[in-house]
Amino acid sequence: MNSSEICIIQQTDSSKSDLLSDKLDIPLCQLNPPDSPVWLDWILDKQSQQQKLALCSKATGPVLIDFLSGKKAHRRKFGGGKNQPLARAMGSTPKGLPSIIDATAGMAGDSYVLASLGFKVDMLERSAIVSALLEDALDRALHEKPNLSEEEQLTLDRLNLIKADSIEYLLNEKPNVDVIYLDPMYPEKKKKAAVKKEMQALQLLAGPDIDSSKLLDAALQTANYRVVVKRPKGAEPVQGLLNEVAPTTNINSPNTRYDIYVIKALKEQIN
Ligand SMILES: C[S@@+](CC[C@H](N)C(=O)[O-])C[C@H]1O[C@@H](n2cnc3c(N)ncnc32)[C@H](O)[C@@H]1O
Repeated sequence: MNSSEICIIQQTDSSKSDLLSDKLDIPLCQLNPPDSPVWLDWILDKQSQQQKLALCSKATGPVLIDFLSGKKAHRRKFGGGKNQPLARAMGSTPKGLPSIIDATAGMAGDSYVLASLGFKVDMLERSAIVSALLEDALDRALHEKPNLSEEEQLTLDRLNLIKADSIEYLLNEKPNVDVIYLDPMYPEKKKKAAVKKEMQALQLLAGPDIDSSKLLDAALQTANYRVVVKRPKGAEPVQGLLNEVAPTTNINSPNTRYDIYVIKALKEQIN
């Protein structure tokens, strides 16, 4: 989606909308409601009196990120703890929990669960708009910090947002990291009515990720310990470009498969 198909609703306090418009190089909307397919607006949360930046479209309504309430809080409390497939897929290293780069942060659902389980997570996101939503959610959560439980505070402290294309970041910065986690966006099946609102909004913004193979290669060249790729149940593994690598193993849950590429095992295959 290019910037002519998205606009920002001007706020009563216009400095906020002007600032975001400059930062993202996205125009302010001429109409309210706008005639563009997607727009950004701030939604007032009556309970907290916080203004929350949201990505809006007629199909999805406002979609925003909230670390402390709603789905993320529910997943943190009732998601299955350390035994859930996502956490098991990360494994453990002799020095304890591995450090993680989530190279496809999106709405940070997975990053937040991992951080709540004690993992330190660098969240990489290339979409400037999704990064702005993440930044807004992190700022709001940090603002609430004095009122949060110790567990919530520690979870937030483990998250670090980096706005970057992961392929470039991994290859140029060569970060020292144990696990790289990938959850690329795949084309949704047409008849699937229950595609989550968040995923619909991401699809509208960015479309499917067509360079997942390059990203897998960059991740395999960078991670010290393993690369984990989230796939829908029954889907083919992501194909690398450089080498024909197959996942070393996988972990299954009802709708999802985590393909695990163990770096040591891959090196032994090559030598
Ligand atoms: C399916 S979503 C990830 C959802 C995320 N796991 C969650 O729990 O919310 C994929 C996201 O990865 C981002 N992405 C894809 N390729 C990327 C890359 N090379 N660098 C950075 N971000 C990327 C997309 O912009 C999109 O926001």
